[in-house]
This record gives sequence, structure tokens and C-alpha cells, in this order.
Amino acid sequence: MSDVPEITPQGVEAAVADALAAAAAAPDTAGLKKARAAHQGEGSPLAAYNAQMRHVPKERKAEFGKLIGQARGRVNAAFATREEELAAAEVARRLESERVDITAVASRTRTGARHPINLMQEHISDVFVGMGWEIAEGPELEHEWFNFDALNLDEDHPARQLQDTFFVDPVERHLVMRTQTSPVQMRSMLDRELPIYILAPGKVARTDEFDATHLPVFTQAEGLVVDKGITMAHLKGTLDHIARQLFGAEAETRMRVNYFPFTEPSAEFDLWHPTFTGGARWIEWGGCGMVNPNVLRAAGIDPEVYSGFAFGIGIERALMFRSDVQDMRDMAEGDVRFSEQFGMVV
Ligand code: DAH
Repeated sequence: MSDVPEITPQGVEAAVADALAAAAAAPDTAGLKKARAAHQGEGSPLAAYNAQMRHVPKERKAEFGKLIGQARGRVNAAFATREEELAAAEVARRLESERVDITAVASRTRTGARHPINLMQEHISDVFVGMGWEIAEGPELEHEWFNFDALNLDEDHPARQLQDTFFVDPVERHLVMRTQTSPVQMRSMLDRELPIYILAPGKVARTDEFDATHLPVFTQAEGLVVDKGITMAHLKGTLDHIARQLFGAEAETRMRVNYFPFTEPSAEFDLWHPTFTGGARWIEWGGCGMVNPNVLRAAGIDPEVYSGFAFGIGIERALMFRSDVQDMRDMAEGDVRFSEQFGMVV
């Protein structure tokens, strides 16, 4: 057995020292596995010493057995310790590379912006809901009766002429694109219990030009109150309130006598504010009046017991003067850059 080394303490110590150095030098768990094979596996110096035990005389077996056993124990412990170190370092490296900054602002795809007309409509609605009013709705494709007849506009009223109203084919069906939100007045009086406090915002259509101050489709908000003891003072107070809510405490309203078939007396009303572009001035904002007794009667309401007021305001005009929009076409063209300026980017 000349190729088998003699067991000597120095030889064993050298094998242990080699093994410990290799364990310490292993750069990662794969390298450690190789070092382990070389220093602990079959064919390693320590394995060879172990095999040599067979040839050790009986009386020295205990001594050499202890020597080799301790050597193997130290090497085992060194590899185990190094393995833990490397595994911990690898976990730490992986955690670091997968680190997520939960405080980072996520990049969001912007899908658009809410339209300022919708925002204005909601804002106005909120003011009335805040006073306990209800929001009412009616169809944009309306029956002529609701749009005109029920509102006391007779057959030969100029607003019924083709140049103002979009009539829908076939004409015998008597359907029109509603020219005003006022038909919701009659619908509400027929549908609801008294007293009535409603606001009806929505789109209307007229055969108007598409220019800086006209749109063929625009937005109104119709107000209607029917209750006992309602006077024009309630109407004036309501208009002043909405004007101040939208434009600030210095806003004022005034009425100018006018004619609308569904109100008597009727007025146009104007809005004043010290900081309108172009200086403190009056701008026309809508129509209003006391609900015509004929309209109340058509809805089956006794005008001797109940009275009411109504008004219609232009939402585009409110937006023009509140946000200084110069050209109404910007509100209709759908360019998201216009909407984004109003801050409700989604
Ligand atoms: N509907 C009218 C228009 O579009 C505005 C209006 C006037 C509404 C008087 C009213 C009112 O409720 O009482 O020109």
C-alpha cells in the first residue's frame, strides 16, 4: 500500500488547513460544492486517511481514529458555516435586486380629462341639491307637445318655425330635439308630488350657427319651484344665491322685463361681477318668471292655491364668464388640452 500516505498529525493538519482555506475561499454556493467534493469527497486526502485506518495497528486505532475524526469534524463545521454565510449573502443579494420602492409614484396612463361643461353642470346641481332641491331629467328627443304646447307656445309662435327647431322625420310623429330644458317643467309637474323644487340640467339643440358665441347644441339648467305662497322675491333670492355661489360674494343679478309664454310676468336676467374680463359689467345669463297659471292648469295644479317660479340659465355662458373662455367652439371641439386646463385630469 505504498500509494497510501502514512497517517501523521502533520499530514492530517495540512489536509485540514487546505480544506478550511478552500471553504473560506469559495465565492458562492456552487464553488463551495466543488471545494467540498475535493476536500471531503471520495479521493480527498481526508478520505484517503480514513481508508488508511484499516492498516493501523490495533493498539493505535483509537489515537488515529480520534485524530481523523476530529479533523473531519472541523472540516465539516467549516463547510457548514461557509454554506450558511454564502446562502445568506445570496438571499440578501436577491432581495436587494428585487427591491420595490413602495413610495415611488407610479407612472399612470392619462386617459383624458373631465369636460368643464360637465363639471360646471355638477357644480350648479350641487348648489341646488344643497338647498334641498331635486335633480330632474327629461329626454333630449322630446315631443312637440312638451317642448311647446304645454309651455303655452301656440302653433304660430316664432320659436316653432323651422329655422330654430330641429324637427325629426317623420314630422307626423311630432318629435323635436328639445330647444330648451323647459319641457322638464311640465314633465316634473305631471310626475311629482307637490311641492316641487327641481333643477333640470341638460343638452338642448337649435339651428344656430357654430361660432364663437353660438353652438347648435348647448347646455341649460332649468329651475322650477311650485309651492304655496311663492313670490318673485323667492326667484330673485334664488338667482342671487346661485350667482354668488358660482362667481363669488360680489356677484349681483338684475331682471329686465321680457316675454316668455310659460311665465307671467317674465324677465331676462343679467349677472354683474366686478372682475369680468372687460371690467365690471352686466352680462345676459338667462330667462325667468312666475309660472304662467295656464301652465299650472295644464298640469292639473290649481293656480289659486299654488304659485311657482321658473328660470333657465345657460351653462356655456356661465363657463365663459367664470373661466374667461373666449370662444364657445373650444367647448364643443373635444380637444383634451382644453379640458385639461380645468384641472380634472383622469
Ligand atoms: N327656455 C327659455 C330659453 O331657452 C329660458 C327660460 C325663460 C326658462 C323663462 C324659464 C323661464 O324657465 O321661466 O330661452
